[in-house]
Amino acid sequence: MSAPSFQTMWAELARVGKDPGTGGYRRYAWTGADLDCRAWFRDQAEARGLRHETDRNGNLWAWLGDPEAGDAVVTGSHLDSVPDGGAFDGPLGVVSAFAALDELRARGARPVKPLAITAFGDEEGARFGVACVGSRLSAGQLTREQAHALRAADGTSLPQAMEAAGQDPDAIGADPERLGRIGALVELHVEQGRALDLTGDPVGLASAIWPHGRWRFDFRGEGNHAGTTRLADRRDPTLPYAETVLAARREAQLAGALATFGKVLVQPNGVNAIPSLVSAWLDSRAADPASLDTVVAAVEAAAREAATRSGVELAVVRESFTPSVEFGHALRDELARILEARSATPLPVIDSGAGHDAGILSASVPTAMLFVRNPTGVSHAPAETAAEDDCVAGVRALADVLEGLACA
Ligand code: GLV
Ligand code: MN
Ligand code: MN
Ligand code: MN
Repeated sequence: MSAPSFQTMWAELARVGKDPGTGGYRRYAWTGADLDCRAWFRDQAEARGLRHETDRNGNLWAWLGDPEAGDAVVTGSHLDSVPDGGAFDGPLGVVSAFAALDELRARGARPVKPLAITAFGDEEGARFGVACVGSRLSAGQLTREQAHALRAADGTSLPQAMEAAGQDPDAIGADPERLGRIGALVELHVEQGRALDLTGDPVGLASAIWPHGRWRFDFRGEGNHAGTTRLADRRDPTLPYAETVLAARREAQLAGALATFGKVLVQPNGVNAIPSLVSAWLDSRAADPASLDTVVAAVEAAAREAATRSGVELAVVRESFTPSVEFGHALRDELARILEARSATPLPVIDSGAGHDAGILSASVPTAMLFVRNPTGVSHAPAETAAEDDCVAGVRALADVLEGLACA
């Protein structure tokens, strides 16, 4: 049986977890859509005669060559999505990985190192709040205890979700032995900004990932009747929340950073009731750690001041944090050398405000990233896209990299 083409793989995967109303994807960790993506991955491995496995942390692996041999060259990304995410964030790296392997074989290249394709579990953290759960666990950056304490909005715990999907939650934890057998990890990803569109290049190389984190702000007031409670008697948590959203925008602008309140839960969420609780999540990022610290401290200070004025209690919890990542120069230079040998122009090098498994794992193994041009820069939204020619260029670049790193 011949391996499914890029187009066939893309069309199959595109059907999984798509919301017909919004056109966006809802592939949350360990839900039915995620399990369907995992089944798709195994089908792709089998169609190519690759040995596949799910590791203790729910990451998927498909192997060409001996996984035990060491110095493996690994490529892949993730298959889960944000709420109403686009088709490309994650899947492009996994589909391109299978397609690049097919191209290597078509070229008759002979790998002298083990090659693996991977899909890391729960990269987006859409269901349990912490991003890059699979890679963080493997790298020892999230402990079993911390992971066991994670809960979805409906109260389901991560262990319950894993168990329901047939994955042993007690087996999770750091996996230095597995990571120690990786010589290089290269993640291809759709670009989530417009840097490549501006330089006019289909493919670029990552230099760094900005430090970023998530903070939950719980504004606790007093639930009461919307029609009978005088304004002066209210302790309405939506007021300090609204002021905090404006403060986040102002402080981010001042610091040259980013701050977003993309998720908010209002309780009890009744149209004729003053809310008792507003929980809102701040996602903040900056090119440097000092600016990030400045923004988060300023937003929290503004929130506290506004909460006090409204007679509302405020608790702020940092739910996840990822320090800045500078991709190692040795592998990055090697990729540039491989790709520039086949191209007339130097490869653009760009930094990323988005987090990635490759960033998490850069603390444990040599990692690098390739970005594929995104003509509008839209991401984490249904309109996310990349041109077919650019996807083809991405696959070719990835095949060149795998050939350069792993073949005789
Ligand atoms: C992952 O995509 C993130 O940066 O939020
Ligand atoms: Mn993403
Ligand atoms: Mn991603
Ligand atoms: Mn009533």
